[in-house]
Amino acid sequence: MAERLALFATTARGTEELLADELKELGARRIRQDRGGVRFMASLDEALKVCLWSRIAMRVLYPLGEFEARGADGLYDAVASVPWEEHLTPEVTFAVEATLKDSEHSHTGFVALKVKDAVVDRMRDKRGSRPDVDPKNPDVRVVAHLVREKLSLSLDLCGEPLHRRGYRVRPTAAPMKETLAAALLRAAGYTGEEALVDPMCGSGTILIEGGLIARRRAPGIARDFAVEKWPHLGARARELLEDLRADARRNERKVTVPLLGFDKDPEALEAARRNVKAARLAEEIRLEEGDATKLPALPEPPGLLLTNPPYGDRLGSGGQKGMKSFYFKLGDSLRAQKGWRLFVLSGNPAFESAFHVRPSTRRELWNGPIECTLLGYPAFYTRPPVRDSERRSEAPLGAPQQPVDVAPVRPEDEDEEQG
Ligand SMILES: C[S@@+](CC[C@H](N)C(=O)[O-])C[C@H]1O[C@@H](n2cnc3c(N)ncnc32)[C@H](O)[C@@H]1O
Repeated sequence: MAERLALFATTARGTEELLADELKELGARRIRQDRGGVRFMASLDEALKVCLWSRIAMRVLYPLGEFEARGADGLYDAVASVPWEEHLTPEVTFAVEATLKDSEHSHTGFVALKVKDAVVDRMRDKRGSRPDVDPKNPDVRVVAHLVREKLSLSLDLCGEPLHRRGYRVRPTAAPMKETLAAALLRAAGYTGEEALVDPMCGSGTILIEGGLIARRRAPGIARDFAVEKWPHLGARARELLEDLRADARRNERKVTVPLLGFDKDPEALEAARRNVKAARLAEEIRLEEGDATKLPALPEPPGLLLTNPPYGDRLGSGGQKGMKSFYFKLGDSLRAQKGWRLFVLSGNPAFESAFHVRPSTRRELWNGPIECTLLGYPAFYTRPPVRDSERRSEAPLGAPQQPVDVAPVRPEDEDEEQG
């Protein structure tokens, strides 16, 4: 294997720029953004640092090559041309994960099977016997991605995707991926030096990721990585990771800022409590049952309010009109927090108009299959509501991140409760 590896880290669409920034900080070189991921070069040591420390990446892949693969035979031949004996031995276990886009094949299972057949036949040919398949906990994960007739083959350094930090012991109805929450915090410029509040915290993902940042804790500290079991690199990777983990533990620090979450649903709060405990942040994060439209006064600013409110479709909301009314009340409550910056991940276009203030930053990104917008608002100062004719006082798009004087205007026909 080369001294410096050409790698590809995957990420949620719309967060590529944030991941590229993070990879730069982690020492990666020749960073190039792509759709759904970032290409970069790194030594083994640097690559392992990315596995342990990246908060945003979903996977770190070691690409083996790209091939033309027409029909089932073309697929088999392409895979069989890879020197698998350099990456596998008959003693390790492996698994194949396939994804397809605009492919002549309709079943990922079929493609994975063809890839597996070609790998084991080549291994039997070159080494006299073949490695076994272990779909659940393989030593080596082969990732096959087929777009039309272009096949990319990679090995996954991480194994379980990196969002599996090990702390989500209790999910809720609409949990956010840990990696996405970390991307939102980076987009909001959160460094753990200011208070953080999620007024609709659900299972607590945003707060836990904020807590890990404030604690300077490596997000992957509680898990292992597939590369540790690779036959040719595993021993070296384990040795390097031992040092990286020890360094990470030594450099953790106390959290000195308040981290606070509210939710009106006791079940969601119970899930958050369990997750916070599993993340070893129970002393740092405070959780309270509460209504985000009637927030109590928060601690002294500076502080960041970061949240993703219900979108209205999945969580049962009493229709779009009800959602607008809810968003308006939410706006009232959030704008009342003087001096707090606000970022909202919205999956419902009604949020922006109901909120009645133009965001100063916006970023389109995907929360799983849902296209969302991360809206950023500078710190607010409030004054009493004003008449329609005074609406011009809204902050203009692209306004600098400094406190603004906000005049909320209640929509006359939007007085339904959120369901
Ligand atoms: C989209 S989920 C948030 C998911 C969260 N980010 C996570 O990772 O689990 C929205 C949350 O808002 C909560 N919620 C809805 N209306 C609320 C209100 N008025 N006050 C407080 N929480 C509310 C719901 O109970 C739900 O947990």
